[in-house]
Amino acid sequence: MKKGMVRKLKIAVIGIGYVGITTAVSLGELGHQVVGADMDDTKIKQLKSGILPIYEPHVETVIRKLLREESLHFTTSIKEAVERAEIVFITVGTPPLADGRPNMKHIGDVATEIGRHIREYSIIVNKSTVPVGTTDDVQSIIADQLKLREVNVPFDVVSNPEFLQEGRALQNARKPDRIIIGCSSPAAAEIMLQLYEKVDAPKQITSPRNAEMIKYASNAFLATKITLMNEIARLCDRLAVDVSEVAKGLGMDKRIGPHFLQAGIGYGGSCFPKDISALVMMGREAQIEMSILEGVQEVNQLQTDWFLDKVKQQMGDLYGKRITLFGFAFKPDTDDIREAPSLKIIVGLLNEGAIISGFDPAVNKKITEMFPSVTVIEDAYQAAKEADAVVICTEWDEIINLDWRKIKGLMKGNFIFDGRNVLDWRMLQQEGLRYWGVGRNMNT
Ligand code: UGA
Repeated sequence: MKKGMVRKLKIAVIGIGYVGITTAVSLGELGHQVVGADMDDTKIKQLKSGILPIYEPHVETVIRKLLREESLHFTTSIKEAVERAEIVFITVGTPPLADGRPNMKHIGDVATEIGRHIREYSIIVNKSTVPVGTTDDVQSIIADQLKLREVNVPFDVVSNPEFLQEGRALQNARKPDRIIIGCSSPAAAEIMLQLYEKVDAPKQITSPRNAEMIKYASNAFLATKITLMNEIARLCDRLAVDVSEVAKGLGMDKRIGPHFLQAGIGYGGSCFPKDISALVMMGREAQIEMSILEGVQEVNQLQTDWFLDKVKQQMGDLYGKRITLFGFAFKPDTDDIREAPSLKIIVGLLNEGAIISGFDPAVNKKITEMFPSVTVIEDAYQAAKEADAVVICTEWDEIINLDWRKIKGLMKGNFIFDGRNVLDWRMLQQEGLRYWGVGRNMNT
């Protein structure tokens, strides 16, 4: 093989959710031959015709390109995908159980299927976020299946955690901060390095258990960073300090860095809340008290309650008041509302008897299905009509860049509650709007 050329590896990606589709697409872009498998027939049909069933910027265009080039295929048959692959990625969901631990059923099922179908040396790579020790469990499940089949197929299991952010998935996959390869076999590590040869990022080869913990510790660290800023923001609010200025000054310290310091109404999504719970449970099982993370969970809940109290303090009795929510997604550039702070805000406002309407560039039906009394309108200006107050829950550009003078003209009242600290309060005040953010002092 010529120097600089990437060895084209045959890849199977099992479980086509956010992580699965991004993995499949980014490996296809790197020049590998990829088959994505999922049991969901409708999803696979859509993908085969180049339709992305989720909202994720830019991914659909790349899917279409790779389908045309025939370097990406989709199937509902795990058998078909696994039999031909040199590397099999597990990218199924691990949703939280009622007690906070992740549900490992899908991981177990996929490992069983892999054990049933691998035919020659394969590397099994787990990308799903899983508790420490799962790589060993997957190894045992596959070995048991091979024993049942009475065959001796060599294989290695690798932990290769995913660090993508929804809404920036492709960007993150193309230019990751790092690639973590948790692997106890030097031969498998070598192939994993070949797989990612073209990706310009630091690569850390470590043990599978270390890799599994790196993923949890990363999310725990980021959630803690945000939560600390949220707590500081509440104090700023009381002491007439502007938390945005504090974050700016803080972020210039290279040891801290400027990212994930944005105070708001709390973190949400399918990852941070679930992963913090899982880590707390892991601690409990290992009899290690995880008091910082338990505090993070508590403060994150408190943050939304505090914000709702602010709305009540300023507006008085909310019964019959018309409140317009801007943004339902747990963050911009996604249609995901899992654990979105907006949901807690809706429940809180409905409990006070407010009448709620709202707008989100990507979320519509999911909200009306969950809250039939909430009116979702596809035009932000129409949604703000006759409103007593507007509450910003998600910092979409489409929301930040609205014509706020026009909004003021359409509203009945003049309250703006900015749950993401993204609007220019000076400009809003000039327009006659009464602005409240999260720990922003408006006297500076
Ligand atoms: C998070 C991590 O950032 C990814 O690295 C990780 O791969 C992913 O979880 C995962 O485990 O799969 P994600 O949940 O997509 O990614 O979203 P983030 O961009 O991290 O935002 C999470 C929440 O924190 C959002 O509700 C967001 O609004 C909030 N946030 C973020 C803040 O309140 N302030 C900030 O400064 C940043």
